[in-house]
Amino acid sequence: MAVDFRKHPMFPPGFNAPTRFEADVYDCEVWGKIPADLEGHFYRMQCDFVYRPPNNEWPTGFNGDGHVSLFRFQHGSVDFRSRFVKTARLEKEKEARKRLWGVYRNPYTDDPSVAGIDRSAANTHIYWHGGHMLTYKEDTLPYEIDPYSLETISGSFNYNGKFQSKTCSAHPKIDPVNGHMIAYGYQATGLMSDDVFVYDINPQGEVVKEWRFKAPYVGIMHDCAITQKHILIPLVARTTSEARLRSGEPMWDWDGSKETMVAVIPRDGEAKDIRWFRGPARNTLHFLNATDRGNKITMELPVSDGERTPSHISRWSFNLNSKKDQFDEELVSVANSPLARMDDRFLSLDYKYCFVGNSNTDRPNKIPSANGQPVRATNEYLKVDVHTGKTSTFFVGDTHGLQECMFAPRSKNGAEGDGYLLGIANNYADMTSELHIVDAMQMEAGAVAVVKLPFRLRGGTHTNWFPTWQLPLRGSKIV
Ligand SMILES: [Fe+2]
Repeated sequence: MAVDFRKHPMFPPGFNAPTRFEADVYDCEVWGKIPADLEGHFYRMQCDFVYRPPNNEWPTGFNGDGHVSLFRFQHGSVDFRSRFVKTARLEKEKEARKRLWGVYRNPYTDDPSVAGIDRSAANTHIYWHGGHMLTYKEDTLPYEIDPYSLETISGSFNYNGKFQSKTCSAHPKIDPVNGHMIAYGYQATGLMSDDVFVYDINPQGEVVKEWRFKAPYVGIMHDCAITQKHILIPLVARTTSEARLRSGEPMWDWDGSKETMVAVIPRDGEAKDIRWFRGPARNTLHFLNATDRGNKITMELPVSDGERTPSHISRWSFNLNSKKDQFDEELVSVANSPLARMDDRFLSLDYKYCFVGNSNTDRPNKIPSANGQPVRATNEYLKVDVHTGKTSTFFVGDTHGLQECMFAPRSKNGAEGDGYLLGIANNYADMTSELHIVDAMQMEAGAVAVVKLPFRLRGGTHTNWFPTWQLPLRGSKIV
């Protein structure tokens, strides 16, 4: 039977309809001038859908097929390439010419013919570390791809058997001081398990330390934060149960009765040294940064207090001197996107700037309505000083919506925040995608350059920038 996405609740006509193609664009059209000091590789992940998912699929779209976009910057020009990650799952479905895997993280809804085959959709995040470009999906191990051609190398990447968790979160963190990656898996020993395994991986790509512990309940542990002394892994009130999975629903359901729990792991300690801090139910997936402040840890993050309430940037404080196991919370910024990035050269350290999307309803909006409803897009990137709240703003215009931004430093050793924001914009006026490049020191001045793609990309998941001093350019053009 041929593919037909019509009348699927996840795919009303518009920007998020499946795109399903791979592309090469040599020497992209650029409006403006690409800064001469911006050279390297900008990657983004996208969940796409080659085959029609069940109608009760998790509407987030996080169970789509992993699709990598690469913008390669050299000498003021940009080449573009996109490829699907050729997962076992996608290849099997292509053979069958239909969807075989069921709804999000629920193997009970899979076609029986695929039992035991890796479920990874490799669709959430991408990191270059230890000589490997890995694409992540948190319910499985990563897929390795070639950083230049984007061709798939292999799945179930486990560091020569040393990464023993069956899963790896899509949000590892790289310590900018020693180059080590902290990565972890939850549901580490199998579906619905309460096991969490955490790993320290050196710059050569070797596992040098492991911590194993139990989570207080089975809930989502999507992201972590690191300081120079600690690893923080929050567990939030999106939970599941055997009964829910047996009923055929996607894995997660919001449970506002559950406390937020945060594991604080000493990097030089053992699993027995972990302290759990607790707080009220919070809806959050992504964490900005954390910092040691004597015997206190502070951590900033986008967070909301319910499933559908707007997000804002908060600071959680953990007092290690106190016997009290509650963390404290204070407001940093009302920026309302759940996605925030920073200058990653300052990850784990004292830092100043957060770069976050914001939907400002006071701005003019000429985005055509969809299904009779106005479209409220992320129309600003804010640069927020997390200590003073001082904010500067980039407004993308009245026909555009912004996806997650990434900060690219102007130089290896320059001041924090001296560089560029890179972010994909949906141009609703002509239904194409653009990469906007904004000078982070002059946010209000508008984009210094816009890379125009002659087609539409779906909404992305996460992005990363690897400058030439981390991942060298190979040759003079995209391979
Ligand atoms: Fe994420």
